[in-house]
Amino acid sequence: MSLRIFILNGVNLGTLGHRQPEIYGTLTLNDIESILRHGFQSVSFEFRQTDHEGEMVGFIRESTGFSGLVINPGAWTHYSYALHDALKAVDIPKVEVHLSNVHAREEWRRASVISAAVDAVLAGMGACGYRAAVEYIIECSKG
Ligand code: DQA
Repeated sequence: MSLRIFILNGVNLGTLGHRQPEIYGTLTLNDIESILRHGFQSVSFEFRQTDHEGEMVGFIRESTGFSGLVINPGAWTHYSYALHDALKAVDIPKVEVHLSNVHAREEWRRASVISAAVDAVLAGMGACGYRAAVEYIIECSKG
């Protein structure tokens, strides 16, 4: 059976492509989806984006049957204990991804309340971070 990987993008990530392109690049979420589908043709992907925290909690709960989860929580990264707790309750390989290098930006972006609930964290690789996260799930995680 092929691997099933869930790709979750949180608040404000639906505007990628024109949102601060000097920081987040010019690729849209659809472009990132195409890159992953073309790059990993044997993987069955499910993509979701939401600006609503409760809806994201629901998506995380849905991920139980997947082989792995990649999440860019956007600004929720820095304060959402609800997402932390939802992720803690899901026992599959989980990777937190940030397009930008959050450690080289404002002080408040350096803290993630999500990282303690995932297996791996990637930041500053742009869209390549999503590919690296999928590779981790396929090649290196115990899932
Ligand atoms: C982000 C970084 C967050 O600090 C920010 O709030 C985002 C995007 C990133 O992908 O670099 O919305 O998660």
